[in-house]
Amino acid sequence: MADIFQSLDQLDSEKLQMVVDRLEYRGTYPAFVAMRERYFDSLPLEQCREVLDMGCGTGVVTRALAERLTDEASLTGTDFSAGLIEVARRLAAAEGLGGRISFEVADSHGTRENQNQYDLVVMHTLLSHVTSPAQVLKEAARVTAPGGHVVVFDGDYASITFGAGDPDLNDAALQALLKTVVAHPRAMRQFPELVPVAGLELVGFLPEILAEAGKAEFFESMLDSYRPSMVAAGHIGEEDARRWSETHHAASEAGTFFGSCNFVSYILRKP
Ligand SMILES: C[S@@+](CC[C@H](N)C(=O)[O-])C[C@H]1O[C@@H](n2cnc3c(N)ncnc32)[C@H](O)[C@@H]1O
Repeated sequence: MADIFQSLDQLDSEKLQMVVDRLEYRGTYPAFVAMRERYFDSLPLEQCREVLDMGCGTGVVTRALAERLTDEASLTGTDFSAGLIEVARRLAAAEGLGGRISFEVADSHGTRENQNQYDLVVMHTLLSHVTSPAQVLKEAARVTAPGGHVVVFDGDYASITFGAGDPDLNDAALQALLKTVVAHPRAMRQFPELVPVAGLELVGFLPEILAEAGKAEFFESMLDSYRPSMVAAGHIGEEDARRWSETHHAASEAGTFFGSCNFVSYILRKP
């Protein structure tokens, strides 16, 4: 299996629930929220009337967008996973946002959305997971209105690194993690090449780093969420995965953890 995010509906209910919990946790983790709010702040959100969140997952970013848009804005979230779209509808309704967001199952490589429909298309940690980042970016460009914006936020996941313990085990385990959950770990460093091909202009770039030293939280939750899928996919043995996880839980407990990963927000405009 290339990337569990390409086929979430094939996961058993326990692993799917771990993904749901991880996405919801991540979407409210302060450093992750700060990166999202920085790109929100760089956009003319009060002028946007038609907004699309592609690859919305559980809708944690879609709900945050709803809070930042005016009441006149129409907001749609789409995702490949029918299971996550069901969760997204339920969570939006629970927050009283059910009437403001429409959630639909769709493949971002080719949607049924109209050409030139949206003032803003958001892709928040989608592009590294799709089969063809170039095709998805072209589809986002197609559905964006002239003068409208496309925002691509994602991890430069090939930069992920952990400090504590055996460096060889860290390298092997992080490679196993990327094989399990990220189809294109270098998509964000290669991304500028895709922009002109999709007919878009690069108008803004926000480089970000998410790092934890001492006590881990974000990275500790990541280990717990994906370790069973890494083992199930055969990318790491159970014993190595357990040793790796225990090393970093112990480092966090002792206040000696180190982990970091670069993230990027690209702000694009359709001429
Ligand atoms: C890492 S999650 C991000 C979810 C959400 N944007 C967030 O930040 O919480 C990646 C999402 O992309 C979705 N996805 C993967 N391939 C897709 C595709 N071809 N079309 C639409 N969604 C896709 C997955 O189902 C998953 O919900």
